Amino acid sequence: MKELLGVNFCGFPCENPFLLSSSCVSANYDMCARAFEMGWAGVVFKTIGRFEVEEPSPRFAMLRSTPNSLLGLKNLEQHWEAHPIEEDFEAIARLKRRYPEKLVVSSIIGVTPDEWTDMARLSEQAGADMLELNFSCPHTSNKAQAGAAVGEDPDLVKAYCAAARRGTRLPMLAKMTANATHMEIPALAALEGGADGIAAINTINCIIGVDLDTLVGAPDIQGLSAPGGYSGVGVRPIAMRFIQELASHPGLRGVPLSATGGAETWRDCAEFLTMGAATVQVTTAVMHYGYRIIENLLSGLSCYLEEKGTTAEALIGAGLPYMVEPDDLTRGVNVYPVFRPDVCVGCGRCYLSCRDGGHQALAWDSRKRLPSVIPGKCAACHLCTEVCPVGAIAVCQKP
Ligand SMILES: Cc1cc2nc3c(=O)[nH]c(=O)nc-3n(C[C@H](O)[C@H](O)[C@H](O)COP(=O)(O)O)c2cc1C
Repeated sequence: MKELLGVNFCGFPCENPFLLSSSCVSANYDMCARAFEMGWAGVVFKTIGRFEVEEPSPRFAMLRSTPNSLLGLKNLEQHWEAHPIEEDFEAIARLKRRYPEKLVVSSIIGVTPDEWTDMARLSEQAGADMLELNFSCPHTSNKAQAGAAVGEDPDLVKAYCAAARRGTRLPMLAKMTANATHMEIPALAALEGGADGIAAINTINCIIGVDLDTLVGAPDIQGLSAPGGYSGVGVRPIAMRFIQELASHPGLRGVPLSATGGAETWRDCAEFLTMGAATVQVTTAVMHYGYRIIENLLSGLSCYLEEKGTTAEALIGAGLPYMVEPDDLTRGVNVYPVFRPDVCVGCGRCYLSCRDGGHQALAWDSRKRLPSVIPGKCAACHLCTEVCPVGAIAVCQKP
């Protein structure tokens, strides 16, 4: 299994690419130990900082398509001062003593250069394998000096990386904010300051919904709400795009990347690897389904790798050559939809979508409940293929 799933991350041999990301899922010794026992290769421990924070309550809200589903999660949690920081470093030390083969990353935050240096030094003293510098929480108190406010400012990123570097010789990851348009700019600044790798993304500032009776946003905190961090499935395409951009940037080639944002299944994780991530970190899916999702991640990815005759290490970045700028795509070669009446359930969604969102290229036989293409009208956009709920429309591969 290790031969298939093992990856080298910043010099550390991980038994598989799956890590818990820094959050409430990795907040103490018992939680991390339980996750390790179940097969997670490592944890990024909950961010440690000297913040004085009183948490709002409630502090989560979910976006769903059905009552049991989870499209996205909003959180307003910081949780950095729930206990003395010495307890966190002691937990890291115990984890490393008990699980030397697992990757233990200390996630830290500070508001002055000296604090960054101090946190880095304490992390190394505790025995952490690596550091992750949190430049990306979108709802930190003291906004001017911490979290995403730092991640949006390349000079501060560089200065705080350099400050942390003064306190440690361990590998350091800079965890970036998706609230920046061009992540490669702060990422390059992080490397200049002494970081060795990049983690992306943190949660994205959002308003997840408003109660139309009370007019208060979710979650309702004593009659008020505030924007908070969005995570889960909904952010995955954005996280994947950032990873691909970082992996493809000439100044960042070969820099170890850790993907975080909406990974839920082994497929999501495999896709992140193909776009250049060496490890994949997970929070929201664990909050929703528990640590047990590791069973799906391990068995799914190893079956896939065996079937393809490859390894997780070889998959890292393997999809990058096929991702180009929109201008570099082949244009003017149309492939048309092929309708399969034996699979069609007659729901008519292809017809409606083509009529109201496409090119009015489908006719609808209401007696047979079947679509057909009006000759010469189809623009080959394949909206019909995407909306079909049963896969009854194929893409004809030949123009
Ligand atoms: C409740 C909660 C708390 C979090 N706390 C932290 C944190 O302390 N430090 C950090 O770097 N990221 C924190 N994150 C962000 C996650 O580590 C992760 O980057 C983000 O949630 C995207 O991944 P996901 O979609 O798998 O949740 C937190 C996320 C959530 C939902």
